[in-house]
Amino acid sequence: MRLFIDTANLDEIREVASWGILDGVTTNPSLIAREGRNFAEAIDEICRLVDGPVSAEVVAQDAASMLREARVLARIHENVVVKVPMGIEGVKAVAALSQEGIPTNVTLVFTPAQALLAAKAGATFVSPFVGRIDDIGADGMQVVADIVELFDTYAYDTDVLAASIRHPGHVLGAAKAGSHVATCPFKVLQQLYRNPLTDLGNSAFLKDWAAVPGGDDLVGLVTAFLDRRDAPSKPQKGAKAGRKKKE
Ligand code: E4P
Repeated sequence: MRLFIDTANLDEIREVASWGILDGVTTNPSLIAREGRNFAEAIDEICRLVDGPVSAEVVAQDAASMLREARVLARIHENVVVKVPMGIEGVKAVAALSQEGIPTNVTLVFTPAQALLAAKAGATFVSPFVGRIDDIGADGMQVVADIVELFDTYAYDTDVLAASIRHPGHVLGAAKAGSHVATCPFKVLQQLYRNPLTDLGNSAFLKDWAAVPGGDDLVGLVTAFLDRRDAPSKPQKGAKAGRKKKE
């Protein structure tokens, strides 16, 4: 499963990109507004930081205007994926964009039926909002699983992008459900690797290691060993090759 970060904050994106596991970025109008930056410049900069799909959302509400916005967004960078809200205008826009070869991410998806329409329109990604579905007392992960099953049954090319992720359990649930992508807030990505037992175990290993001779310089210790082991051995006196021992 690919991991995207759900943010428009460049420091967070830069940090997670440095981990070597980041596959893409999703933004939305609220996340962009939070950063108080020029929208186009922010998307351009994000695309330079991450070599993967970067979702940038349209804000128009009718298909024709969505198309106009989508076409200029797609010109910012080849990795831009145009995020389009679910709805009949969004479906029309996605169908046209798919004909034009512009990748799309249908957002604000809450049911498998909505995902089916998005896939039929040729969406590249469909984003079920797991956390917001849970918030209303329904089962967000079941919606992800149903969409994955539906897309498998009919061999749709559309990827399922689990969104509105709130905790590591959601990430694992999305992976188990076969979601192609999970997009996570920075905090959730940090929570994926943090574990107090890992920290405790590491401290204990370091404490014990202090008793290892030469252990304060592991590189020096191993290099000295390799130099000794791999040094060409000197021929011993009287042991020239080919010389036969007298009987
Ligand atoms: C998806 O791409 C959205 O940006 C995001 O996941 C929404 O999450 P929220 O419900 O935490 O706002």
